[in-house]
Amino acid sequence: MESLQNKKERAVFATKFAAVATTVGSAVGLGNIWRFPYEAGIHGGGAFLICYMAFVFLIGVPVLCSEFIMGRQTRSNIFGAYRKLHPRRPWYLAGYIGILASLLILSFYSVVAGWTIEYFTSSFLGNLDFSDTATGHGQFMEMTTGWRPVIWTIIFLLCNFLILAGGVTKGIERVCNVLMPLLFVILIAFCINSFTMPKFQEGLSFLFRPDFSKITPSVLLGALGQAFFSLSLGLGCMMTYASYFSNNTRLGRTAVTTAMLDSLVAILAGVIIFPAVFSFGISPEAGPTLVFEVLPYIFNQLPGGAMWSSLFFLLLFLASLTSTVSMSEISITYFCEEKKMSRRKALTVSSLIALCGGLLCALSFGPLSTVKLGGMTFFDLFDYCSSNICLPAGGMICSVFTGWYIKRSIIQKQMTDHGKYRFRMIGLLVFCLRYVCPTAIFLIFLNSIGIL
Ligand code: TRP
Repeated sequence: MESLQNKKERAVFATKFAAVATTVGSAVGLGNIWRFPYEAGIHGGGAFLICYMAFVFLIGVPVLCSEFIMGRQTRSNIFGAYRKLHPRRPWYLAGYIGILASLLILSFYSVVAGWTIEYFTSSFLGNLDFSDTATGHGQFMEMTTGWRPVIWTIIFLLCNFLILAGGVTKGIERVCNVLMPLLFVILIAFCINSFTMPKFQEGLSFLFRPDFSKITPSVLLGALGQAFFSLSLGLGCMMTYASYFSNNTRLGRTAVTTAMLDSLVAILAGVIIFPAVFSFGISPEAGPTLVFEVLPYIFNQLPGGAMWSSLFFLLLFLASLTSTVSMSEISITYFCEEKKMSRRKALTVSSLIALCGGLLCALSFGPLSTVKLGGMTFFDLFDYCSSNICLPAGGMICSVFTGWYIKRSIIQKQMTDHGKYRFRMIGLLVFCLRYVCPTAIFLIFLNSIGIL
């Protein structure tokens, strides 16, 4: 995203590979490896997986296409995109949902990313001991419940700040283009290792055998939120990326590839986590801490465990950094372009807001664990409001807008790369954007507040 530093010269990704790699890079992050297993664990495993997959392809892919169309057609951020396409109506107000949600996500995301730094340093220094369940749990609680997470959250936000301020975004993208495939390889290796777990069958059937009676309104809403979160949808993040796509990046194909790779990583994470969950006698319903409680046991069993563990958490840290860099851009562009701040000031303001939110989230597991709003800690509340409400709402607006207000010829032009390729599914895409996506999202909302 080199051009983010210099708005006047809008760069274009040099190759199709770069476009796919960056899009997948934004999508793949803690959402797949940390959030997916914990959401699946809370919501009954197989039942959740099936709803999640259905939403990724029925709602996620069309909405992703619509963000791509708007982004590449207008070559601007979310506010500019809505304004250019419909200057007389305040559709651009949807951008505010994006800013709010991106700051909320940045807050809790930084806390979890902070845990990855803590785990990386502890395993690097050989301090991570998860040889038996009691020590493991105690150690985990010690790491996450006190004031220490505050320090790691600050350190993470500082890394994010420095990358954005130093204009080395391009550098980090390059590093990640090499390291992300490595993360993928490691995930596959751990998956194979999962088959040696004593209760691997139980774990796999938890994930892959859906119990349809478990599909409740909250499972549906959770799966919808996860689909949006994991694909980085609803905030205009993908719209901004698409504004840097070249004119021969095939949008439909890129959307489908992104969705497939992204779900694959989530499923791999599930295959790694659940057999271990059952083998080590941990409850799958542990919530946001699940993955961090389970992974160290897996590493401990492996020869050279500390090395694997450090490598894994380092890669996860880098993966989260690319995601937060893209997330931060949403509020930074807003402050720069709408509030006319300098880029540095915009960066400082959004980092400070994220820091305040981050502190509340970091303390949610310790000193602030008893402070609850609507039965949720700050961490859970931020996650719930942004992922389950703001992202689907933002996606719904984008889908209605593209379906009803963007001329079919523009959609056609974008989906065929100015007529270079054939795209036969335009009717289906428009149908999904007009009717299927908004109705499905709306029904899930109604359902979850108990109206339906
Ligand atoms: N998709 C990323 C993940 O899975 C998180 C993310 C990055 C995101 N940018 C976003 C989520 C924009 C919602 C909106 O970790």
